[in-house]
Amino acid sequence: MPRPAIDLFHETFGSPPRAAASAPGRVNLIGEHTDYNGGPVLPIAIAQRTTAAIGPGAAGESGVLEAVSTRYRNVVRIKWQEELPKGWAAYVAGVLRELWALEGVPPDGAVRVAIASDLPVGAGLSSSAALAVAAAKALAPSLKPRQIAGVAFRAEHDHVGVRCGVMDQTIAALGKRDHALLFECASLAATQIPFGARLLLVDTGKRHDLSAGKGLNERRAECEEAVKRLKVELPELRWLASWPAEWLPRLKRALGEPLRSRAVHVVSETARTRFAAQLLQQGKLKQFGKLLYESHESCRRLYECSSPELDTVVAAAKRAGALGARLTGAGWGGAAIVLVGKNDNETAPAIQRAFERAYGRTAPISEVQASAGAHTERV
Ligand code: GLA
Repeated sequence: MPRPAIDLFHETFGSPPRAAASAPGRVNLIGEHTDYNGGPVLPIAIAQRTTAAIGPGAAGESGVLEAVSTRYRNVVRIKWQEELPKGWAAYVAGVLRELWALEGVPPDGAVRVAIASDLPVGAGLSSSAALAVAAAKALAPSLKPRQIAGVAFRAEHDHVGVRCGVMDQTIAALGKRDHALLFECASLAATQIPFGARLLLVDTGKRHDLSAGKGLNERRAECEEAVKRLKVELPELRWLASWPAEWLPRLKRALGEPLRSRAVHVVSETARTRFAAQLLQQGKLKQFGKLLYESHESCRRLYECSSPELDTVVAAAKRAGALGARLTGAGWGGAAIVLVGKNDNETAPAIQRAFERAYGRTAPISEVQASAGAHTERV
């Protein structure tokens, strides 16, 4: 897979790249909208990846970034310390700024970057985190995975200005083959949990770039407001996810709508995710799957981040007897995951039929495997 980025670098800049690295997309098994609330997430890295090939720019071009990708082909040329382009190259510029802040990694010379990816954009598979993590790993291969995740997170959050949590960059950097990652976003504790179950990915085809960005920012503001109000009850509360689950009645009394629903989702999703991780650890897939359905219901009803297409997929999966199903990622479109038994050949066609009946088009369904996180590639 690294070949297209390496070839593109060569074609565009007339010399081979000096280094390359790749990073995966992700699906989140459970723990939605908990990361920026200081709760747990349970994602896996998937096989589709983004590769960044890098090399030095022309002499005397200090501070210039030249970036190209197989998707857009035109070369973006900017002074990365002074300006931030619109679109994908802003992530690379954000990474450079963060690496530079980390004591001059890389030196502030000219940089050339070529990107190739088999991750769809806007499908909820976190193509932006894969891009930022791949670029960071290629530019600073000696940094530890957690540092790479931090650089990529700040590039997206502080520079590009998407108010995301730390989940996507963390799993892209720390992912492990055949494992899910239980990541506690307040303590930053990470636990790898074996994951070998069959998981389907259903792409609803509804791209969610704009609505998800807007929805995410709106929900974050609501969660911050909820914390502010709940501090009257519990002054030491810092994260919404730290509100004790057994105090839900008190939380409900303290908040009006819509903050009440948003907060109940975050607090119950936090408990559900930790329980789900335990069940997965014990190999109890059936009970684990039930929690996926519950999580979807909570996202749909309380957090209001689902879409009719996602609900159609989850309902069809349930009717067909799948172990569990839910939206994955921010929601408001994008993809759903469906957990199926080893010999289940019925669920996928049943979802396909239901989707076609409802929307007159097909929803691509593929099987996903828990794959490796970021690594360098030979050039
Ligand atoms: C987006 C964000 C993540 C996380 C999810 C919702 O994917 O980038 O940080 O907040 O939404 O769980």
